[in-house]
Amino acid sequence: MGLPSTQPDDHVNAIDRLSIRLKAIQIHSPGGVDKLCFEETGDPVLESPGDVIVKLRAAAINRVDIAIRSGQNSAPRSFPHIIGSDGAGTIVAVGRTVTHVKLGDNVCLYPVTGCGQCDFCSSEQEHMCAARSVFGERKHGTYAVYMSVPGKNCFAIPAGLSFEEAAAFPLVYVTLWRLLITQAELRPGESLLIVGGGGIATAALLVAASLATPIIIASGNAEKLAKAKMLGAEHGINYRHTDFAKEVRSLTGKRGVDVVVDCVGGESWSKSLASLARGGRLVTCGAVAGAAAATDLRRIFWNNLKVFGAAAGTREEFRQLLNFFAVSGAKPIIDRIYPLHDAAKAHQRMEKGESFGKIVLRMDE
Ligand SMILES: NC(=O)c1ccc[n+]([C@@H]2O[C@H](COP(=O)([O-])OP(=O)(O)OC[C@H]3O[C@@H](n4cnc5c(N)ncnc54)[C@H](OP(=O)(O)O)[C@@H]3O)[C@@H](O)[C@H]2O)c1
Ligand SMILES: [Zn+2]
Repeated sequence: MGLPSTQPDDHVNAIDRLSIRLKAIQIHSPGGVDKLCFEETGDPVLESPGDVIVKLRAAAINRVDIAIRSGQNSAPRSFPHIIGSDGAGTIVAVGRTVTHVKLGDNVCLYPVTGCGQCDFCSSEQEHMCAARSVFGERKHGTYAVYMSVPGKNCFAIPAGLSFEEAAAFPLVYVTLWRLLITQAELRPGESLLIVGGGGIATAALLVAASLATPIIIASGNAEKLAKAKMLGAEHGINYRHTDFAKEVRSLTGKRGVDVVVDCVGGESWSKSLASLARGGRLVTCGAVAGAAAATDLRRIFWNNLKVFGAAAGTREEFRQLLNFFAVSGAKPIIDRIYPLHDAAKAHQRMEKGESFGKIVLRMDE
């Protein structure tokens, strides 16, 4: 059967040129949210025989998008540039060497790519590759109606998830899955402290609640604490008013918790270490409040602690995550959904730290 080749015109029939004006959020230079321009783009082109073109129905906002938009992330790229790591949609064109997905499949995207040749890439650990990047970093990303992506990064959307939900989870949830399940090996019944109330924190809440883990959440926002309790957190601590390490000691009879998820950093970091029980594990993948955090090393060796870091996760961890959603029926926690052209409002909400869960963009124009 006549699958499209890499020639640009081969996929034209799959994309109804008459019914669409190809749109995307593009940046022409780094800066504030005013740099997010909603405008027409060129036709998507299959860049290699292993690529597919996805008609995106939804994308999600990540902190890395803000870093790229504002110029804090210096990944080499040319302008105009389309940001966005997370997306879900329908395959509308397929390169000739792609076999595991086909036209019309609804897919979500594993967001990591690597050099394709090193030992890490050869063993499906692109997130460890020296040339690792996520969509929207070096290559165009998901804030677009159409996107060319490696076919191997496309996975069937777990049954029961909408396009918005399928776009909401990839980067944050695969990173959290690696941290909590692969590295910290959180077991049912172990106690967990989650610091912050954003994307990573709510992913931790969802996954840990499914393990019947007693959860304490520390947030600077009373409304978020109330929502977290409704989703399974046993205790909420407002870290603006209370030293959460002391409060955790008090809540656990001085023992401390088994695992802490802290992607806030800054002043939280030393308190997170102080919240751990002996033999406890601290996991991190971010530092929104400051990366140069103080560490009392004695806490680590006296208390036999382990500290794990992760930048995204493996394809195998992504598969485990898809399976988790399919089997548990759990759905990623979504804060708000904006139309694509309102990406600036979405960025502002995340930058202010207002979101509880993932902020999603919908391509419904
Ligand atoms: N390495 C990776 O692969 C990877 C993947 C995903 C995310 N990350 C990183 O992990 C970190 C968290 O990501 P996220 O998606 O959870 O972000 P997010 O949704 O914006 O959540 C961050 C949360 O941190 C809390 N916070 C405390 N102090 C803050 C401050 N000074 N500025 C902003 N927020 C502050 C806020 O919660 P409260 O208001 O409740 O306190 C906020 O909701 C980021 O650094 C991100 O880049 C890394
Ligand atoms: Zn590589």
